[in-house]
Amino acid sequence: MSNLKWWQTAVFYQIYPRSFADGNGDGIGDFKGATEKLDYLVALGVDAIWLSPHFPSPNWDCGYDISDYRNVAPEYGTLQDFKTFLDESHKRNIRVILDLVLNHTSDEHPWFIESKSSRDNPKADWYVWADTPPNNWQSCFDGEAWTYSPERDQFYYHYFMKQQPDLNWHNPKVKKAMWDAVRFWLDIGVDGYRLDAIGTIFEDPDLTPHTVPMNLAELRRFSELAQTPEDLKLKDKYWEDMFKNQWGQGGVHELMKELRGILDEYDGDRMLVGEDDNIDYIGNGNDELHLVFNFPLMRTERLTPEHIRRNQEERLKQLAALSKVPGWPCNTLGNHDCSRVYTRFGSKLHGPELARLHAALVLTLKGTPFLYNGEEIGMTDYMLTDISQVKDTMGSWYYHAIVTDMGVHPDEAMVRTAEMTRDKNRTPMQWLNGPNSGFSPAHVNTWLPVNPNYRDGINVMDQEKNPSSLLNYYKHLLRVRRESHALREGEQVSLHESAKDYVAFLRQSDEQTVLVVLNFSENTLELDFTQEFKNAKMKSIFSSAERRTGEINPKFKVSPFEVFITEINRE
Ligand code: GLC
Repeated sequence: MSNLKWWQTAVFYQIYPRSFADGNGDGIGDFKGATEKLDYLVALGVDAIWLSPHFPSPNWDCGYDISDYRNVAPEYGTLQDFKTFLDESHKRNIRVILDLVLNHTSDEHPWFIESKSSRDNPKADWYVWADTPPNNWQSCFDGEAWTYSPERDQFYYHYFMKQQPDLNWHNPKVKKAMWDAVRFWLDIGVDGYRLDAIGTIFEDPDLTPHTVPMNLAELRRFSELAQTPEDLKLKDKYWEDMFKNQWGQGGVHELMKELRGILDEYDGDRMLVGEDDNIDYIGNGNDELHLVFNFPLMRTERLTPEHIRRNQEERLKQLAALSKVPGWPCNTLGNHDCSRVYTRFGSKLHGPELARLHAALVLTLKGTPFLYNGEEIGMTDYMLTDISQVKDTMGSWYYHAIVTDMGVHPDEAMVRTAEMTRDKNRTPMQWLNGPNSGFSPAHVNTWLPVNPNYRDGINVMDQEKNPSSLLNYYKHLLRVRRESHALREGEQVSLHESAKDYVAFLRQSDEQTVLVVLNFSENTLELDFTQEFKNAKMKSIFSSAERRTGEINPKFKVSPFEVFITEINRE
């Protein structure tokens, strides 16, 4: 029997609604489409969905600029369509959590429209206003963080785009209004929230200026061109210094506690996961967030055994030290904000093998895994070639800044923009080998271009038919995880800690012990676990390579890039 909550044993799947499934054929994903694909998710074997924002939005930041917190963007359907999606998910035992953007609203939200209308309207202090820009702070998306509003003849603060003004969370009325919106969806029955950018909610009260001798565009450009070890180091320091007064400030814990209190009023173990890697947001284990993402795992150029071990050791130690109730880990390798796992951590020579290895990593480490839609078929980044295609406005802003202000040639600027924009990892889901990859009908212009590599087998339908496809590999592994008490719930014990080529760890619960071996090298390795499992029987339960099932010897070979999971029965 499990003592764990559903959100600890579930596998989450992130749906980016604009790109997941287009049910009405307008080139944009929607709830009708997503509802039709729920059986696909059941067959895949996931337990919960994180839905990126589905609220009305002018889409300056692809839905993360919300103009109404209690409704559905018309292009995604109606509130009733959302409810149908939620009910149909629940019927299939799939939970649904929403995205909750607390830091800012859209500048078209009625709260902001009222706030900017005069200096003395009832919502005058719902946002962060100043007579003149009090410092040199930058927005992390589009230059100056203070934007002039002619109506008030004042400036408002925004950490993200200027179309995303920061709310003033010191104002209790803001809290009340947002908590009402939170309740609105909980009343409808959603299972929790992924909390957007919580670190940015409060700013340094002294408004201390940053000390970097550049503005945002210059720093981005400097980072792109940095080559020497000194410049590479400087670049990291500059990024940290530029924003350190604008995030990670006091006040967030108290807010998270209030929010948790609201969730706990509801039945059904509603949950919160924070877009922040600071473990302290788990609080005492019962009073703040349920989970925070283990972003340090993916914040690396390459996933090496050494990096993975170091990350796990540090993370698990921190979680255990939190309080009497140890925190629960939450692992992920990708989302809508970063290069796709296949591209980012893959290699030209061993793409398919590495994709399998990385999937196994996230699905066998202790904790709740989050997958990003399309990852299961090996979708890759898609580089846009024309600025008119760019939908991620932080990308188009940067393009124009470097072309206009820095004289960078448009061709080069486009290459840089394609690399930095998040459009590359948000292209439509590839459902089949046919026009528009089956995402939308033929001849429809999809909101972002479809990656033409759907023709090369990177699509759901082809992979469903192919027993050795990545999709079938995910399904198999998810099944093994679901059936393994140890993989879902067990403690993690690292083995062979100096191994350069592979990672080996135990997962052990009171019902089962399994050994996971991930060979990150292109060599066959001869491994010896006789010391650890002297009087034990080992039985293979999963392998990504051809190998016989059944009992195996504690001295065994693993093939290049093999994922090998065995059950251990001590006599
Ligand atoms: C989060 C979201 C990102 C968005 C930003 C501003 O980081 O994941 O997509 O642009 O917050 O809301």
